[in-house]
Amino acid sequence: MSNVLTLKNVSKTFGEVAALHNVNFHVGDNEIVGLLGDNGAGKSTLVKIITGYHQPNPGGELFWKNERVERLTVPKARDLGIEVVFQERALADKQSLWRNIFMGRELSDRLGLLDVAKMRSETRRLMNTAMGFTSSAVTAESTVKTFSGGERQGVAITRALYFQAELVILDEPTMGLSLSETRKCLEFVEGIKKAGKAAIFIDHNIFHVYPVVDRIVVLDRGTIAGQFMKNELSLQELIDRLYVVAQTGHLESKN
Ligand SMILES: Nc1ncnc2c1ncn2[C@@H]1O[C@H](COP(=O)(O)OP(=O)(O)O)[C@@H](O)[C@H]1O
Ligand SMILES: [Mg+2]
Repeated sequence: MSNVLTLKNVSKTFGEVAALHNVNFHVGDNEIVGLLGDNGAGKSTLVKIITGYHQPNPGGELFWKNERVERLTVPKARDLGIEVVFQERALADKQSLWRNIFMGRELSDRLGLLDVAKMRSETRRLMNTAMGFTSSAVTAESTVKTFSGGERQGVAITRALYFQAELVILDEPTMGLSLSETRKCLEFVEGIKKAGKAAIFIDHNIFHVYPVVDRIVVLDRGTIAGQFMKNELSLQELIDRLYVVAQTGHLESKN
């Protein structure tokens, strides 16, 4: 299996704080990687390096599909096909659903004018397919501020898939969602897998992560404490081992 993304020896310090220390991490083609770790483990810092928001310390290397990327920036990461769905859901509240889907990447017609009709009809198509919106109260014209947390999350993920993201990163997407919204969000992650794309799914709730991922990576105080394929460990074994990680900083590999 080839990798879409590989990080080698990536460290990041903020003044005195070593947020990441010699991290080696990869995401395979069409692989869903669960990234687990307590608050402050360095998960968001890792995401910010992968999305070009932070530069790693000198010596760290980043490869996209086996090619070295010298200096990743936010626009460059986006061009490569890296999309992030943030914890703080970045939608424009006062704007309509269709505007939110196409924000920053508006469709235009042959004359270069905004193709509003096309954007509306594409939004309606996505609502029925990718987003699976069932509420008759929601139309392409609805303003996003009336949406539930789960619906908002759905808009963000659909946007990522529509624009052919190769790697979708979800940083604690289930935070503050109700049970049914969380289920919906997990279905979106499964949709990424079915669409043949890759994802990094960050959540500190193991019960959310376990069912939808192929591999689990545990980050602890800035270092990779361990990783394994999901089919190597049952959920109960995983829970037992995470408890050991919290105390020792290491995840024992399965013998
Ligand atoms: N911009 C920053 N400046 C200073 N310290 C930071 C910054 N970003 C993160 N940190 C520190 O780095 C560590 C890891 O943070 P973070 O990556 O947000 O962890 P997580 O997402 O796993 O909770 C924490 O100790 C945090 O306080
Ligand atoms: Mg975080």
